[in-house]
Amino acid sequence: MKKRVGILISGRGSNMMALVAAARAADYPAEIAAVISSAPDAAGLAWAQARGLPARAIDHRAYPTREAFDWAVDAALTDAGVELVALAGFMRIQSVGFVARWEGRQLNIHPSLLPLFKGLHPHRQALDAGVKVSGCTVHFLTADTDSGPIVAQAAVPVLDGDTPESLAARVLAAEHRLYPYALALVASGRARVEGGRVRIDAVGHPDGCLLSPQP
Ligand code: GRF
Repeated sequence: MKKRVGILISGRGSNMMALVAAARAADYPAEIAAVISSAPDAAGLAWAQARGLPARAIDHRAYPTREAFDWAVDAALTDAGVELVALAGFMRIQSVGFVARWEGRQLNIHPSLLPLFKGLHPHRQALDAGVKVSGCTVHFLTADTDSGPIVAQAAVPVLDGDTPESLAARVLAAEHRLYPYALALVASGRARVEGGRVRIDAVGHPDGCLLSPQP
């Protein structure tokens, strides 16, 4: 049985597009049951609707409180039979109640190698720190921002002359590979939270390592 996934977006939606593309494969363990955008004018929402996906806006500005908006999202997810939520550029902070309700069933992607560079402007933070490797992380959502159990990470080199924009573009390409892979690990049951960490069944341990700069 494929897991029913709800994707929450607020903007461009390129990670959503990567998940939608992956879910087209017959053997992918998840299907996209709902796309919800907090912004009616999000480019990602128009893209999803044009492709006939079950996509709708829930305009956060139409709700008096964070909780009221969250419960509207929750109702839409529940109506669609969603079992797993994937945040993909979703720009709303969630209420404690919503996070608790979906704990262990909600994923996020953050464009840094967590726990480094949480929060806003992670690429600027990475460049300011002078790291030679950055990347992206898919993790389970918890009440602490960008701090939940890590499912998977992808690394990219940081190059001399990088700007936040050039680094963001390199990391984004990695995000589009990582998120479908991480969602598949969770949806298939191969990745499970145990004791605050994610255990992964049957994944090989590559013996190589990434050097940056390359020799
Ligand atoms: C991505 O970089 C993601 O990691 C971050 O917000 C950005 C969303 O991009 N959370 P998109 O809307 O998926 O194109």
